[in-house]
Order: sequence, then C-alpha cells, then structure tokens
Amino acid sequence: MGQSNLRKPLIVGNWKMNKSICSAEADFLDISRRTRPCAKVLEIGVAPVSLHLSTLTQRRGQHMGVFSQNVHWEAEGAFTGECSARMLKDINVTGALVAHSERRQMNAETNITAGQKIRALADQGLGIIYCVGETLSERESGTLEQVLRSQIAEALGAAQLRDLSAFCSHPRTCTFSIAYEPVWAIGTGKAATEKEAQQAHRFIRSCLESLTSSAFAERVRILYGGSVKPANIGSFIRQSDIDGALVGGASLDPASFEALCASAAETASF
Ligand code: PGA
Repeated sequence: MGQSNLRKPLIVGNWKMNKSICSAEADFLDISRRTRPCAKVLEIGVAPVSLHLSTLTQRRGQHMGVFSQNVHWEAEGAFTGECSARMLKDINVTGALVAHSERRQMNAETNITAGQKIRALADQGLGIIYCVGETLSERESGTLEQVLRSQIAEALGAAQLRDLSAFCSHPRTCTFSIAYEPVWAIGTGKAATEKEAQQAHRFIRSCLESLTSSAFAERVRILYGGSVKPANIGSFIRQSDIDGALVGGASLDPASFEALCASAAETASF
C-alpha cells in the first residue's frame, strides 16, 4: 500500500466528453451517496465537461471533489473556448487535470504549456493533477525514463513554483498530484502491470526528489491511469508508490465506480 501516513489515496473519475447535464448531475449525486463510506480512507472526485462544473460544485457534499479537465494559463483575454484558473475558483472547483494525453495528442499541449497551467492553478490555490506517460513506441525504444523526466522537469521549470509548502497545508492531502498514464493503456483495456506501474511511479518520485526536495516528493500523490477497473485497482493501490488512480471508462457507471472505490478503500485500510 502507498505511504498512508503521508498520502491519502485519491481516486478521480475522468468523464471526458460524456454525459448530458441531467445524467452528470444524477450520477454525481449517486456516486456521492455510494462512496460516502469510503471517504475516511480515500479522497474521491470526478472531472466532468466544463459546461457541467458549476452544476456539480453546487451539489457537492463534503467528500467529493470536482475537477476541471483543463484550464488556461492566462487570467482572461482573447482565448476562445478556454477558461481560466480564476474562473474555476469562482465556481468552487477543486482543481484541474493538466496535459491529459488526449490533449497532448489532439490539442497540442506541451510540457511548457502544462507548466504554465500548473502555475496558474497554484496561484489560485487550486489542486493540480499533472498527467504524464509514454507512448508504446517510446516504451519499446527504451526511452521511458527520458520521456518521464522531461515531462516533469520541463513542466516544473516553466511553472516556476515558489512555495511548494502551499500545496501541503493539509496532512496527507497534498494538492499537487501527478497521474502516470501510459498512452498505450488508456481506453485500450490493456492496463500496465502493477510492477510496470510501480517502477514508473518510483522513477517519477525520484525525479521529483531531485527537482524539488525529498520532503515534497514524499507528499506528492502519484496516481496510476490507464484501464483501471474494479478488478485491478487493489493490485495498484497495494504498491508503495501508487497513491490512487485516474479512471476513465470505469468511472462512467456509478455502480462500477462505487465498486472500484470500495476495492481501493478496502486495500488502503489494510
Ligand atoms: P481509461 O482512461 O480508464 O478509460 O483507460 C483513463 C484516462 O484517460 O484518464
């Protein structure tokens, strides 16, 4: 299991571009009710489309986070289709995903724009889930570590974070997280093995350690993402550097997300 004394596991459902406003609201309330018993041992959230954020934050009880799937780094201006960290904060959003691989592939997100987004979120005191991960060809050509190192180093360089302790004001719930999502495992049904994931997470933590401090690196939650299901979440959570999950497909159905959270909670409380 992850270092529970320092890092409360975090499970976030990434709904991507799915659900009508009615089903988003109904499913959010259903998930809130179903996962309440897990809240002692887990932090739980969902990331709906931006159009639905405000409805969900107004229906939000104590234990559920609501994350944006994206954010822009500027506060306002001529950026058609975007919204800023300050606007997310205005509607009480918990934080945002940054540089999900689908956005890296389809919306030209880079490590540098990711860093600018991280900075904008940090300035507003919002949570960050920074997504990293290699493609299949990068893994097969042996460049996994190089790819992960530059994703982290370049983004942190661009973010120029001054006060890392601001992320760690609550015990066990550091608001800066990294999601390790191998691109080849996303939406494919072919998850990484727990050993592959643990190795990558360990490496990510060592990068954080050398780029920031060991105290900060020990507090950052590193989530695994890529075909996480109720049946495999336990084996991931059991690993010492896996502190939760970013879940796509299996978070869309409230019963499946409940089963996944229940299994994670059971493993985490062992
Ligand atoms: P998946 O998606 O669980 O459907 O593989 C994960 C993600 O894209 O965050």
